[in-house]
Amino acid sequence: MNNFTFSSPTNVIFGKGTEQDVGKYVKALGNKVLLHYGGGSIKRNGLYDVVVKSLQDAGVEIVELGGVVPNPRYSKIKEGALLCRKENVDVVLAVGGGSVIDSAKGIAAATLIEEEEDFWDDYIMKKRRPVKALPIGVVLTLPAAGSETNRGIVITNDQTQFKRSLGSDHMIPKFAIINPEYHYSLPNYQTACGSADIIAHLLERYFTHTTNVDFSDRLLEASLRTMIHVAPLALKNPEDYNLRAEIAWCGTIAHNGILGKGRVEDWGTHSLQHELGAIYDITHGEGLAIMFPAWMKYVWKENPKRFVQFATRVWNVDYAVEKEEEIILEGIRRMEVFFKDLGLATRLSELNIDDSKFEEMAKKMLLGKETEGNFKKMTVEDAVNIYKLAL
Ligand code: NZQ
Ligand code: ZN
Repeated sequence: MNNFTFSSPTNVIFGKGTEQDVGKYVKALGNKVLLHYGGGSIKRNGLYDVVVKSLQDAGVEIVELGGVVPNPRYSKIKEGALLCRKENVDVVLAVGGGSVIDSAKGIAAATLIEEEEDFWDDYIMKKRRPVKALPIGVVLTLPAAGSETNRGIVITNDQTQFKRSLGSDHMIPKFAIINPEYHYSLPNYQTACGSADIIAHLLERYFTHTTNVDFSDRLLEASLRTMIHVAPLALKNPEDYNLRAEIAWCGTIAHNGILGKGRVEDWGTHSLQHELGAIYDITHGEGLAIMFPAWMKYVWKENPKRFVQFATRVWNVDYAVEKEEEIILEGIRRMEVFFKDLGLATRLSELNIDDSKFEEMAKKMLLGKETEGNFKKMTVEDAVNIYKLAL
């Protein structure tokens, strides 16, 4: 196990009715809030009204900015930062899924950069960590990205078609309210994509060459098995509180950092998917359901033992040493079937994506670096080969 530091400072408030206290938590951070949300799902399921009432009851002044789209855009961050400066906002509240949260975190940081700086050019593209940000609160409506308790954002530049991530401790939300009842209104497609994303966050940590990490291996395997069990049930019973609660808590833990401690994580598959998202604007979780099986088929020879462990412990493939390759491929096959059964595409061609931009995406992914990922250090050629396997 490698050395590490770990801190998870977000105050998580989980369960039925918790959204009614949002005003109290915001008021503890400031008097004027930017209420940030997406395309209107929170108005349709009633959450917006509850949040606004709670903020008003707590005496918090509200400035609103909706309209965040999936794969959130840099243009919205610029708009939000200008608004926060003009209105002297002192807290940013995200009510939504990963896109709204990432946009809110970006706004919170971009508001406090110097006037002459540009958040995209000077921070995101340079991987320069913001050193301050307005405090951020979250009401989570979609368990998937894990952004509610972590330091990351993933933003798309509408003009350059780059999708890039950035992390800073200053962008970690101060609190995250999670009431799984508000996840009932999710379309099955979003529940499936969110589940695939949660699984992907577990896999990015699972596939490592670091040895003596049995404790976190077992936690990752338990989390994967939980998702494999509950996600299909939640599609059949979208208003089952307990199923929604399992997914929501697993989604947060999967990506708050704890499960990757003491080991080298991979993240190559996310990078492959971000290039797809940037150009084709596909849903993040579905892109991962396509790219993970392809990545696995390409890289398993780097460490067959780890893939045997995955197949046997996570997918219950029968263990027999003399048939190592069959065990591994059967594990990958079962995962692919699982994603398909959730109703997700598992091939790029199902989303009408052809091979015309594979080279371009691979080069963009490797811009400024020699390799990407850790389990296998991918070159441009590797990335193109993996996209081909996903076709
Ligand atoms: O915009 P609204 O109307 O709210 O609708 C959204 C959106 O259309 C809808 N939705 C959300 N909650 C709902 C709901 N519909 C009905 N009922 C509800 N309760 O779902 C759609 C998708 O929302 P979005 O926020 O885009 O989904 P998700 O949470 O999967 O976030 C995806 C984004 O997160 C990034 C992805 O790259 C992508 O841009 N990620 C962020 C990470 C991070 N910050 O750590 C890590 C992840 O790996 C990921 O990259
Ligand atoms: Zn993800």
